[in-house]
Formats: sequence, structure tokens, C-alpha cells
Amino acid sequence: MHLTSVEEKMLAGEDGYAVQKNMQILTALGDIFGADKMIPVSSVQVAGVSYYNLGDAGLEYLHGLADKGAKARVKTTLNPAGMDLENWRELGIDEHFALKQEQLIQAFVKMEITASCTCTPYLVGNEPGRGDHIAWSESSAVTYANSILGAMTNREGGPSALAAAITGRTPSYGMHLEENRKPQVRVKIETKLGAVPDFGALGYTVGKKIGPKIPLFEGIDTAPVEQLKSLCASIATYGGTALFHKHDTSYRQVETPGETLTITRADIEGALRALNDEAAGVDFVALGCPHCTLAEIKKIADLLEGKRVTKEFWICTARQTMKEAEKNGDAQKIRAAGAKFACDTCMAVAPLKGRFRVLATDSAKACYYGRGTNDFKTHIGSVEECVNAAVTGKWT
Ligand code: F3S
Repeated sequence: MHLTSVEEKMLAGEDGYAVQKNMQILTALGDIFGADKMIPVSSVQVAGVSYYNLGDAGLEYLHGLADKGAKARVKTTLNPAGMDLENWRELGIDEHFALKQEQLIQAFVKMEITASCTCTPYLVGNEPGRGDHIAWSESSAVTYANSILGAMTNREGGPSALAAAITGRTPSYGMHLEENRKPQVRVKIETKLGAVPDFGALGYTVGKKIGPKIPLFEGIDTAPVEQLKSLCASIATYGGTALFHKHDTSYRQVETPGETLTITRADIEGALRALNDEAAGVDFVALGCPHCTLAEIKKIADLLEGKRVTKEFWICTARQTMKEAEKNGDAQKIRAAGAKFACDTCMAVAPLKGRFRVLATDSAKACYYGRGTNDFKTHIGSVEECVNAAVTGKWT
């Protein structure tokens, strides 16, 4: 791989041990994937932040880097952590876990990484532009960045994203090359899609049918951010897709592929059935996968007004978004009903195994992790159905 003289010096250790080690990681990665050079990145998003996933080995690795002087050279934010960094007690997190999670966050902060702890960095100030080369690692955000924002990123692992932050570089391969970003399957949607669960079901269906091939969607051009982030999360989870095209956001003219997949109402209904388990009752309701927008919080607040929840109900969102909701009074309505904000974290990366039995959510991705990571039974439905489940404890 060709390295510039600046990069050669980084690799030789002239910028210190931490830069050298991370340049070694990136050159090794570049060699594996046949990259011919490094490219500068303007934004990094690091996943692998929860102590639930990282454990003591991860904690030791991160503090080792921080103690050796590693610093982020470009705007870098974090994916959700294992707990709400302020209200962890209210969410039932134990002291030992909280202490370890705080130590992990301290290591990132020492490396001058912003502890925004969200999977929707594009909603809270880390929003790259079209054609920008970036290194993000949260799968839903990667798909959103490539497909909706028009930025260019591979789906990084936590360590390679961190290495990109510390060096300001990433190897040039995969999604950084135009020739790898062409649509491969035309997806004709022959049904009217409704709210968020329909878009999760679309991602589930298309992901299962075409895997990581790049789709060109016809029929979702007017979908708002809430539906699109749900689609990104779902298609990345069930198909491994890092990029899709839709007509109005394709910043380059793309050719329509010959292979065609048609999606009907029967496909959407089938996906929703597959994500709904046979399970009586609900004991945990979680919305915000990916993290809620302000508009989603407003809707939840309006639905909860004058009601009282009887089951644990988490609204997962970025702390910055929750603070906005406090300004307009929606956060107060939600808390008055007994529901809880889960800022900085989510239902998949918090230590929840064994605490609950049946999850109700509007997110296809949350169903995947609820089942896989936490052994929950799952119900997927509209926000209205989820709020009703939190109030009644029943799924209707
Ligand atoms: Fe975000 Fe957690 Fe879902 S990281 S996309 S809320 S599984």
C-alpha cells in the first residue's frame, strides 16, 4: 500500500506509540482488503462502548491507549454505552457495572472523543456531507450515512474505527470506492408503507432475500427520517447491507439494475408475523432503536398524557435530544406517566438478560437483539400499540 511521507512517519513511530500502533492496525487491514492507499477521514463513530460487550479486556485496552497519549484527530463520537450515564440507578443498573462503564467512558474522554453515546450521531451534530470519507462502526448509522447522507464509510469494527480516530486515516477499499457502490438489485415496492414497523419489516424482507447486495429502492422517496433510520437498522441487521440507493438521494446518477425484487403487502405482513412471538403479556417496552428523534418523543408524550404505565418502559435517545424534549415539556409528560428515558444506552447494549421476558417495540432490529442477546420473546407494532402495552401489560 502506498503511504504518504506523513503516514510513513506515523508508522515509524514519530508521532508516538499510540499513533504507530493504530497505523499498524490500519495498514494490516488495508493489506487484507487490498487497499492501495490510506484516505483522510473527516468523522469517526466508535461502537463497542458498553462494558456489557467489552468486559475488563476492553477496559484495559482502552486505558492502555489513553495512557499512551492517544487522541482523536478528527470529530469522533461514541455509540450507546451499557447504561444511562446519569440515571443508571433508575434503570436498575448495578453499582459494579456502573463503575466499570464510567471507567470505559473516562478512557474515551481522555482520548478527546465526545461521549455523545448515540447510534444516531447524524441527529446530534456528527453529520457528514455527500462524498465525505468517514469511518463509522454502528451498522444502522453506517447504512444511514452511506445511503441517506451520501457519505462513504465501511462498516468498521470498534478497534478499526478507533484507529481511524487516532490517525485520521482509513484504508481505501470497499464503500470508499465508487465502483463498489453501484446498485445491484432493483426493489419495487408495490404496497403503501405505513409507520416505522413497516419499514423495519421492509428491511427484514429485503435483507433476508438479497443479503449484502446493494438495492435501489423505488417507492420510498418521501419517507421521513424516522422510517428511514428504521429501514437502515433493519436491512443492516438482517442483510448486512451497508448501502442502498433511492432515487432522490442518489447523489450520482445510478443505472437501474437488471435483477428485480418486488415487495408486496404479503411480504410486509409476513415479516411482521415472523417478528411477533407467541407470548402472553408484555413486561418491557422499549422504543428508540435507532435512538428516537424529537418528533418520536413528542408522539410518545402525547400518547402518554393522562395515563400511567404499569410496565418498565424505556425511551432510548441521545441525551441532547432528551434535553430538547425537556425544553418543550414532552420529557416531563413522559416521566409523569412513569416511563423512563434511557439516554446514552439502549435495550440491546444494557445488561438486561434475565430481567424481562417479553419485549414490545416498534423496531425490527430491537427484536433481533431482544431475542438473540437477551432471550426475550418479542412483539413488534406501532407506537400506539407499544404505549398501550406499557399501560395495560397486554399485547392486543
Ligand atoms: Fe441503536 Fe441500540 Fe438499536 S445501538 S440501532 S438502539 S440496538
